[in-house]
Amino acid sequence: MTETTGARSSGELARPLAPSEGVTARSAELAHTREGLRKLLEPARRDGASVGFVPTMGALHEGHASLMRVARDKVSGPVVASIFVNPLQFGAGEDLDRYPRTLEADLEICEREGVDVVFAPSVDEVYPGGLPQVTVAPGELGDVLEGKTRPGHFGGVLTVVAKLFGLVGPDVAVFGEKDYQQLALISRMSSDLCLGVDVVGAPTQREADGLALSSRNRYLSPEQREEATTLSRALYAAQREAASGVDAALQAAHAELRRAKTVELDYLVVTDPALAVLPADPEPGTEARILIAARLGTTRLIDNMSLTIGASR
Ligand code: PAF
Repeated sequence: MTETTGARSSGELARPLAPSEGVTARSAELAHTREGLRKLLEPARRDGASVGFVPTMGALHEGHASLMRVARDKVSGPVVASIFVNPLQFGAGEDLDRYPRTLEADLEICEREGVDVVFAPSVDEVYPGGLPQVTVAPGELGDVLEGKTRPGHFGGVLTVVAKLFGLVGPDVAVFGEKDYQQLALISRMSSDLCLGVDVVGAPTQREADGLALSSRNRYLSPEQREEATTLSRALYAAQREAASGVDAALQAAHAELRRAKTVELDYLVVTDPALAVLPADPEPGTEARILIAARLGTTRLIDNMSLTIGASR
């Protein structure tokens, strides 16, 4: 992590990072303030280079690293990653306070992945004067699935992403398919509000046993971690049975879920790829999405996969 004049003059932190073994680290810059960010992005704006953006809440893992690589491939100029635990998207009783904050380790991942600028603002920097009066309303899609269990969540996500888009001014922003509904809503926001950001989805990264990578996996006890594979096993089972139709796919998934002792299902649904209701009798070959949310103790996990209904994969 190198320090620039701009960064130094705006109170940015500089810290040298050791390259990870076998990986050539590139220099990255860290900004904690809007002004620091603006200065760091000035050269790219002057040169007309395209900017890639990966918004995160930190606690970075290989899933985030893959988003950074996708962003890098898509732009001619800098890749920016933001690290900000956004209070606006957490409901009462959710894990805002215990959400992992691991800035040092996160910076190493950003450095390793060749991120050029890391923006890690404080809450006051993002929400000066308190929470905003004007926010982004997600519409109907914000009230179902995750939105039903987490009222207000997507309004908080869209509001902070819109603000971050405003601050970073990216050409391309990359989000994980793991948060499929979030990806769909951010895509809609960018097109509905003409934000001019190309929103790109990147495939979910998984552990060897199928568990989707998530910053929240670290809350799981060893026993819960073992049972957590039930979610992906259920989705894979559905994929295998999708040739026989939606009901068969759902039954196969439920059969996997019944084998788990401590997994408390929140929802398991099949939708069309845009999260709309599937036709009652879909044509063979219809593309669909299966989405699941479940609790293991106090930890809530989500996952999803594509399905092809009525056709062998
Ligand atoms: O997916 C996340 O980490 C967050 O919801 C996001 C998109 C960074 C907004 O805070």
